[in-house]
Amino acid sequence: MIKIAAIGDIHGGFDETDISLFNKSDYDLVLVVGDLPGRTHVGTYEIARRIGQLTKPVYFIPGNHDGVTMIQLLAELKQSQSLIERAHKKQFRLCEQLKESLGPANYCGYSIHPISIGGINFTLLAARPHSMGGAPLAYKPFLEAKFGISTMDQSTQRLNELIDRAESPILVLAHNGPTGLGSSREDIFGCDFRPDQGDFGDHDLEEAIKHAKISGKRILGVVAGHMHHKIRGGGERVTQVERDNVLYVNTARVPRIFKDEGKIMRHHVRLHLSETELTAEAVYWT
Ligand SMILES: [Fe+2]
Ligand SMILES: [Fe+2]
Repeated sequence: MIKIAAIGDIHGGFDETDISLFNKSDYDLVLVVGDLPGRTHVGTYEIARRIGQLTKPVYFIPGNHDGVTMIQLLAELKQSQSLIERAHKKQFRLCEQLKESLGPANYCGYSIHPISIGGINFTLLAARPHSMGGAPLAYKPFLEAKFGISTMDQSTQRLNELIDRAESPILVLAHNGPTGLGSSREDIFGCDFRPDQGDFGDHDLEEAIKHAKISGKRILGVVAGHMHHKIRGGGERVTQVERDNVLYVNTARVPRIFKDEGKIMRHHVRLHLSETELTAEAVYWT
């Protein structure tokens, strides 16, 4: 079994102690699902430099808070097309800066990464970067200029092409999970911030998983975040679902570092992967 640490939405919660704990751990590799900065996008590059100090192989996919400005984020939230268009230009430089800060960590998105450890082979497939969930294609001008993707259908097509090129079995790394796993606020990628709730997954990813199945490609699981565990109005969402032999894991425990009965706790998810099976369990380091 390959041992993988999956780190959910960091949002400022990754310090020197984390570097030392992960470096001393028995993990073979580390996945980071994105959303590095705290509120008002403070600390992105500092967190990225800390991730860059990990001595394990690291794979990072940018979230909707990474390599973008606050104005861009607000423009996306409001779906102000004129502001989205005007504000996107800094994203190229910010993403470059993020990539540099991450040092040896693999900067992923619309990409495939063949991995072989201890005789076990699989492909890590990184889905659409900067996903924000829901129907709109977030950060469209950037995706268009960087990847030639300007619609959700084109994004599905790109993911399908990656699946066609990837050797089975496949593990998907995404910022947000796919649609099709429930539309209630407590569902794994369900919307908790709108009164009518709804499915807030990524439609392109759901379609790509269907494509994999039709093409006879084996997807072991999808590791994502974005939809934070604590839900608005109280309670916690479901964090793991198995559907049609694919394991979906939501790693977004926010805050990642917190106090419980006076003790500092640090969250991540431990994955065990073989060529036929994937399991996941939440880990809280004290
Ligand atoms: Fe987040
Ligand atoms: Fe996010």
